[in-house]
Amino acid sequence: MAILQAWFMDDVNVNPQLPHHLNPNEFVSPEYLAALGVLHWKLNPDKYEEDEELEKIRANRGYNYMDLLDLCPEKVENYEQKLKNFYTEHIHADEEIRYCLEGSGYFDIRDKDDRWIRIWIKAGDLIILPAGIYHRFTLDTSNYIKLMRLFVGEPVWTAFNRPQEEHPARRNYMISFGQKMGMPLKAH
Ligand code: LAC
Ligand code: NI
Repeated sequence: MAILQAWFMDDVNVNPQLPHHLNPNEFVSPEYLAALGVLHWKLNPDKYEEDEELEKIRANRGYNYMDLLDLCPEKVENYEQKLKNFYTEHIHADEEIRYCLEGSGYFDIRDKDDRWIRIWIKAGDLIILPAGIYHRFTLDTSNYIKLMRLFVGEPVWTAFNRPQEEHPARRNYMISFGQKMGMPLKAH
């Protein structure tokens, strides 16, 4: 299983599509991502239409819904607004499951100390963000990504912007992952 590239972000307020590495770099281990509830597989994107490994993951986790999202201005209605919403810190009531088929992009997640971790996904990366984790998404400077979206049953893409401490998905996330890692329960 190839390693996902992830690092702590600086808080410099310029173009979010730049990498935003700290100086010096501070990379994040797969174990730490796993402890925060993030799952990852490296698959072969060229055979996504007939991939047994992908089928197994879908069957095991009940992901019967699937669609493709080509993030480019020509193919997406309200492109600018959508990207803006993706980059606004939020949670969902369900997992966010994305399989990158082409291009690349950044999923940023909050760690136990509320620091931003930037996860760089490229073609072949399938990642699952747990329900209730604070996160956001942006394109990188390649400005293009093609994603497969998976879901259990009828998809719900509703984003709940932070703060959401009382949201059941947030509470469950804190019980499953946050408290074990010593995340403070205070409202924020
Ligand atoms: C999102 C896009 C990347 O939901 O699918 O954030
Ligand atoms: Ni999201």
